[in-house]
Amino acid sequence: MILCLGMKLKNFTSQEEWQTASVALFEQAVNAQNHAEIAFSGGSTPTLVYEAIARTARVNHKSIEVYQVDERMVPADHADSNQRLIMEHLIHPSELRYAKKKEYAPFCFASFFRTELPAEKAVKKYEKQIKTAIKSWGGFTLTILGLGPDGHTASLFPDSPVLHETKRLVAHTTTDQFAIHDRLTLTFPAIMASKKLLLLVKGKEKEHIMHDLLEGDKTIDELPAKKLLEHPDLTIHYCTT
Ligand code: 6PG
Repeated sequence: MILCLGMKLKNFTSQEEWQTASVALFEQAVNAQNHAEIAFSGGSTPTLVYEAIARTARVNHKSIEVYQVDERMVPADHADSNQRLIMEHLIHPSELRYAKKKEYAPFCFASFFRTELPAEKAVKKYEKQIKTAIKSWGGFTLTILGLGPDGHTASLFPDSPVLHETKRLVAHTTTDQFAIHDRLTLTFPAIMASKKLLLLVKGKEKEHIMHDLLEGDKTIDELPAKKLLEHPDLTIHYCTT
């Protein structure tokens, strides 16, 4: 079944090879120009790749802007905060690595959701931040996404009305299936405007949802990540262990 012309699916049985291939895709996207805007998701699977990027990525410039794909409505120092996850597993370790070489890390700027504000205010503020950016460079260089066991990606959950958003770039969503019910997330207009998408999936427990994503006839309402198959440059890295 031809899923979409630009889709590349790579399966891995070794975590290390899966990480190395994902870092290589990040390097290729970032080094293709002298400035890059990357949107990072939360989740335990993407975190493994962030750690590998911080440890090993070879970047030719010091101009990577960090954005968030989504966030939980918790304080930035909360254990479930995606901002905290990106700081602890990507930015800080990268700064330490480059400091040893007496250099600055390549992450020159970070834009995080303002979860101390009421949700709708935080949505407006983040939309304003990324609108200016997206207007000047037409979309993130690379958006890194995870896949939930229910087929959600970012914080775009099954049956959410936001799945059919066509204009707004950021939205407030809720879930009763996962920790932290109130979420802030990029919508598909923002995600699909990215030049490249990397979907990171890992673990035997995701086999069923990967099958439904690639083979099944579920709708986007039933399996939101299906929308990603419409993107012209989607890479899926699936580590089956
Ligand atoms: C979040 C994420 C979410 C995540 C997937 C995969 O804030 O939780 O953005 O979309 O990437 O749920 O998470 P796991 O890899 O932990 O299953």
